[in-house]
Amino acid sequence: MRLTTLAGLLSFYIAVAYGLAEPKTTGLLFVASRPTHPELTEDVFNQWYNKEHLPNFINKNISDLAVRYKNTNTSAEYPYLAVYRIDVEKLKNPLLLTGLTFTSQLLPGKTNGTKGGSFLDVMKMDMRMYSRIQTFEGQTPEKSRGKGLITLAMEPTAGTEKEVDDWYRLQHLDMFRYCSTMAPKWYIAQIRLTRSSMLKGYHRSTRYQKLDNSSPRFLAMHEFDTTSIPAEMKMLLNTEWAKKIVAGTKSSERNVWEWVAELGKGKAEEKF
Ligand SMILES: *[C@@H]1O[C@H](CO)[C@@H](O)[C@H](O)[C@H]1NC(C)=O
Ligand SMILES: *[C@@H]1O[C@H](CO)[C@@H](O)[C@H](O)[C@H]1NC(C)=O
Ligand SMILES: *[C@@H]1O[C@H](CO)[C@@H](O)[C@H](O)[C@H]1NC(C)=O
Repeated sequence: MRLTTLAGLLSFYIAVAYGLAEPKTTGLLFVASRPTHPELTEDVFNQWYNKEHLPNFINKNISDLAVRYKNTNTSAEYPYLAVYRIDVEKLKNPLLLTGLTFTSQLLPGKTNGTKGGSFLDVMKMDMRMYSRIQTFEGQTPEKSRGKGLITLAMEPTAGTEKEVDDWYRLQHLDMFRYCSTMAPKWYIAQIRLTRSSMLKGYHRSTRYQKLDNSSPRFLAMHEFDTTSIPAEMKMLLNTEWAKKIVAGTKSSERNVWEWVAELGKGKAEEKF
């Protein structure tokens, strides 16, 4: 959705608040964005985002972990992503974002050549709210945060949600770590010495469901050391079960992102 006014922002929140009744759990505010104002350069956009907007979320106690990424696909509709860890109860509060500072002296103003405008007027945003379903780290958790992130948003055929969840839990995520026997011998030896993962540089996966249940309802985020995603990743979709899940997926959006900046209240490199 495109958010251009504070009223639009509020009505979005009200719509979400009347959606599902979620138990108290970890949530995620997911904001993909693109600067649109002709006078807003990418450098200034990033400066405002990293130096003003992320700190604003943390200082106002809206979120306790905010991470920004840049899309590796230079022709993607949304070149930037910001994810904020926020309790679901808090996320559903329509007043959550009203404490933010909307205007900045860095951003273009209402008339040409002036500054002091609102971020709602100078960028396009796709904002989504999620509650967490699962965090997977295998048996040898990789504590740090890598520089690479894959996001996969998907909408399964109605009625197959349970099977998709089973597939993730019983097969797919396990394969990220435990299928080293499929790799060549030298690779296995190297893996045992380092971090016993089939997919070199894999850190963890976090899965979410949208609060308002609109399509695509599910999101999986896979964290890696770098944005060079191992070619073996393709093998994970070669099982009979994976083929069935893929065939039953109505829509999916996959993006690979590179870490840009993060800010949080706890220790650095925390989980989402
Ligand atoms: C900040 O948010 C957390 C989690 O929502 C809450 O427990 C805490 O009381 C808040 N702190 C302040 C100073 O508002
Ligand atoms: C990059 O984004 C464009 C526009 O959304 C899309 O058509 C293209 O398939 C994407 N490329 C990759 C490698 O994902
Ligand atoms: C403002 O700038 C845009 C292009 O940057 C131009 O098309 C428009 O005519 C300008 N408007 C005024 C009032 O100067």
